[in-house]
Amino acid sequence: MRVTGTGHASMRIDTTAGSILCDPWVNPAYFASWFPFPDNSLLDWESLGQVDYLYVSHLHRDHFDAKHLRDFVSKDATVLLPEFPTSEMEDEFRALGFTKFLKAPNEQVVELPGGLKIMIQALTSPTDGPIGDSSLWVEHEGVRLLNQNDARPTDLSVFAELGHVHAHLLQFSGAIWYPMVYELPQAAKTAFGKQKRDRQFDRTWRYIDDLKASHVFPIAGPPCFLDDALWQFNDIHGDEGNIFPDQSVFLSEYAKVGGTNGIVLLPGSVAEVTTEGASTTHPVPVQEFFADKVAHLEEMRERKRPIIEAEKASWRHPEVDVLGEMKRRIEPLLDESIYLAKGVGGPVRFDLVGYDGESVESIVVDFPGKEVRPYADEKVRYRFRMERSLIEHLLFIDEVDWVNSLFLSCRFSAARIGQYNEFVYAFFKCLSEERLQYAEGWYDEHERSTDAEDITLGDWVVQRRCPHLKADLTRFGIVDGDQLTCQLHGWRFDLPSGRCLTSVGHKVRAHRVDAETPAPAGEAVI
Ligand code: FES
Repeated sequence: MRVTGTGHASMRIDTTAGSILCDPWVNPAYFASWFPFPDNSLLDWESLGQVDYLYVSHLHRDHFDAKHLRDFVSKDATVLLPEFPTSEMEDEFRALGFTKFLKAPNEQVVELPGGLKIMIQALTSPTDGPIGDSSLWVEHEGVRLLNQNDARPTDLSVFAELGHVHAHLLQFSGAIWYPMVYELPQAAKTAFGKQKRDRQFDRTWRYIDDLKASHVFPIAGPPCFLDDALWQFNDIHGDEGNIFPDQSVFLSEYAKVGGTNGIVLLPGSVAEVTTEGASTTHPVPVQEFFADKVAHLEEMRERKRPIIEAEKASWRHPEVDVLGEMKRRIEPLLDESIYLAKGVGGPVRFDLVGYDGESVESIVVDFPGKEVRPYADEKVRYRFRMERSLIEHLLFIDEVDWVNSLFLSCRFSAARIGQYNEFVYAFFKCLSEERLQYAEGWYDEHERSTDAEDITLGDWVVQRRCPHLKADLTRFGIVDGDQLTCQLHGWRFDLPSGRCLTSVGHKVRAHRVDAETPAPAGEAVI
């Protein structure tokens, strides 16, 4: 099995029974904030796009690059579709001209002509990608590969059960706006960033250890930031709180925990994977490439500047009545929302900075009051500050997912009172009837499901499933003193009180091993 690195989370898998192109991303994403690193735009995409199968793990724009898919990927390719709850992905592919689809039943091995086997695991909680993320398992002639991508399943047993995996490709770097955009003192940001960076690596080690594949390929990040306004997010400034470590950092961190089977794929690197081993060739020596990272980024920045400028010029739509349009689109959804609105539990304020860079219009999405209105000097749960043109553009293009556009752009600052609130972001990625109904239904079901099984971790008896997204705490739970950390997303819980220290709600059921009566059962999620 041949695996060609094509940048970020993208790869082309070639076997004698057919080829699969995965997640080809080339054009900048999220308001021209993210670019693939290392640069992959100079690869021979005309021929890379001539494939038998196409797989895109989810709809985040650093995976689903509509322009590139339209221009460079053969429309004869059969699209391998994860079993997602909504038809959005298929609709988007059809709009681009794809007509051949294979809807892979969730977690079932599908045999394709020539003995090529695939299995797709779809993750479908409202917090998984843009309502859905997935992983692809491939087997041909005894060689098995798992493209886990940036999906975060609770465990990898469904893949491990299919036999030893030879190539495990997974995310290791950051892909979020936290903590950089928060209005915090620099020292606090660095401390939170460092914590986040450590957690990312811990989670990666956990997955690697779960699968015990012959070879591990760090993929799906980091992106690079080429706009001058975002340049500081690149991990080139010696900031230990930077959440975007690159593949060379992965290798050295992996070595510290004893990892010796890591393989970095640059765009154009080719790995031949067999049951016996792997041999890799690179377009340039890997170490030299990373030693020259700053020069690579600077050269890319100059080359991509016109693209960024052209994008920026397209965001202003002064004719859009932002308050009126937000009211028209968001109020009906607030009206229907039970779980998300209750979960947010307070007003969320948007401060929109005008074209002059100074005037500010403050709009509040009032979740308890179920309305969108001008800010009225009240306390708010979250406050976001951004250029008005960004919101104008979202309204102009009728964007239903503000996470997959605005928030991932990192082109905003934020402040909040209290803990992280996942419902805020879940709501703003569900600005359509279809998505909102799905998310509400998911929380409803999640809420009702009981989880009575307990396990012992250190001196504590705790519920087996994490109150966040039900990770198995026998694998992901770590108890340190009176604190439990679930390593899947790094949420922490105070065991004596059961309180979640990371996000509102989500109480854990716990009591000391020697305690006679358990603490009260977990409270409602919201
Ligand atoms: S499942 Fe997310 S922190 Fe446990």
